[in-house]
Amino acid sequence: MKAIEIRNKYLEFFKKHGHAVIPSAPLIPENDPSVLFTTAGMQPLVPYFLGEKHPEGTRLADFQKCVRTNDIDEVGDNRHLTYFEMLGNWSLGDYFKEESISMSFEFLTKELGIPVEKLFVTCFKGDKDCPRDEVAAQAWKKSGILEDHIYYYGKDDNWWIAGEEGPCGPDTEMFYDTGKSACGPNCQPSCDCGKYVEIWNNVFMEYFKDKNGYTKLKQKNVDTGLGLERMTMLLQKKETPFDTELFAPIMKRLEELQKVDSIESRRIVAEHLRSSIMIISDGGKPSNLDRGYVLRRLIRRMIRHLNKLQINLEELSTLINLNVEILKEMYPELEKNKELIKTVMLEEKDKFVKTLANGEKEFKKAIDRLGNTKLIPGEIVFKLYDTYGFPPEVTKELAEENDYEINQKEFKELFKKHQEKSRAGSEAKFKGGLAEQTKETIAYHTATHLLNAALKQVIGKDAHQRGSNITVDRMRFDFNCDHKLTEEEKKQVEDLVNKWIQEELPVTKQEMKKEEAIKSGAECMFIEKYPEIVTVYSIGNISKELCGGPHVTNTKELGKFKIKKEESSSSGVRRIKAILIKE
Ligand code: ALA
Repeated sequence: MKAIEIRNKYLEFFKKHGHAVIPSAPLIPENDPSVLFTTAGMQPLVPYFLGEKHPEGTRLADFQKCVRTNDIDEVGDNRHLTYFEMLGNWSLGDYFKEESISMSFEFLTKELGIPVEKLFVTCFKGDKDCPRDEVAAQAWKKSGILEDHIYYYGKDDNWWIAGEEGPCGPDTEMFYDTGKSACGPNCQPSCDCGKYVEIWNNVFMEYFKDKNGYTKLKQKNVDTGLGLERMTMLLQKKETPFDTELFAPIMKRLEELQKVDSIESRRIVAEHLRSSIMIISDGGKPSNLDRGYVLRRLIRRMIRHLNKLQINLEELSTLINLNVEILKEMYPELEKNKELIKTVMLEEKDKFVKTLANGEKEFKKAIDRLGNTKLIPGEIVFKLYDTYGFPPEVTKELAEENDYEINQKEFKELFKKHQEKSRAGSEAKFKGGLAEQTKETIAYHTATHLLNAALKQVIGKDAHQRGSNITVDRMRFDFNCDHKLTEEEKKQVEDLVNKWIQEELPVTKQEMKKEEAIKSGAECMFIEKYPEIVTVYSIGNISKELCGGPHVTNTKELGKFKIKKEESSSSGVRRIKAILIKE
């Protein structure tokens, strides 16, 4: 059975059982800056577990696109994936344990035809917060699960919560016995040896956890999740998800193209390529912060493994075409977004390639200087990240290839400090970037919008703002750009800004719905951070930005604009320092 057939069977089955089928939410959560990506089908449904009414009713089912990157450096083995599809069904205060278990049993044995002897289940063993789940165990027995195929575990295995706080509860997990021989006398479903593979998790969400402990929710919910790639692999009796139709054609193509053989590298390329495609298609852009940084890591690690396989990077474009072909039946939006996916991916490739060779040289030099120690200091890992755009797992792999280890702890500390700084920077920008509002700073603020617009005309529309800082006597502006500006480019930018100043353009302010603002093409840095009603500042018809202001009322108040310096800020980001000269 193909993955898409399993998905369709699942949705049909739950429809038959009274569930409304809802669309997958985007991978990039809407209005939720607290999480990087959608990691489970339940994530967009949290308000409904807490009691809000869902417009489609109390029984829902869907397929959900998910990204989980906590195990990113495990990808390359026979099972880890960063992107996966989760099939899920939900009861929002409707059915509970018995009905949920009976439906799962019916789906697995009747619809998918899994023999009952192959199924093992686990239930919550009970502790001070919640009693032993005899109800779930009884329901399994009644369905037909063999008594000695039922195991009980504690919170580590049979309790589910997304993160630290929120709706949660005991769960019951279903396992498939692959028939491989047991790793020892104690081999059981919780064992990681590969004999038992977890296929489905039903969470009985009736608790809420916060820092004071557990309380009962107003309603008893069920949240389930079934990993599609894994189920596909098992039903097709394949050893890994890479052997299913979801990856096999890409794996084969990589094998044809490679000059050096490595199954691990082929898997990393195939997996990260698929993940990046899905993220970009849902609006992701590579950057050095948060979501953008995850995407950057995926693409850069993929590039390095294409290099390891000695596959010409020019092939990336045809690999994207092939991957879209494979996936478009399941995700028709990919066809529509194909050109965007290519542009983003190829631009990121070009950026990385420029620094890759130098970074590798730098790495070699750094380890030569280390002497006897085999531990690479976090500072070196950070420098490779900051100057050459090396994600830490790339440095880690380089280290391992040379029998070195990296000091993760030191790197993480430096990285955290760096992220806090960048975030503080963006928050300052969010507030308007103006600590003190004087006539001068207000003029610089308007000049910033002009510069932003000019860069888009001279450098390209992807020259997005990455940061801004204003004082009474100068402005500083960071933006995406993969090269040092030429004298000619600098002059063009300067001339454009001055032309607009001379044109005496009016600066106007308008309040509108965030959605409308975006539709009208207004620029903004962090859309999710803005309230529903936003202020949009327009300068003539050359600039339109979401912004808190304040601004001058006419560009004639600015004086003459002059670029004092253009330099690198970080990998792929340039910085311009400029002043306004009063005439
Ligand atoms: N939310 C549950 C999980 O992700 C079903 O396993």
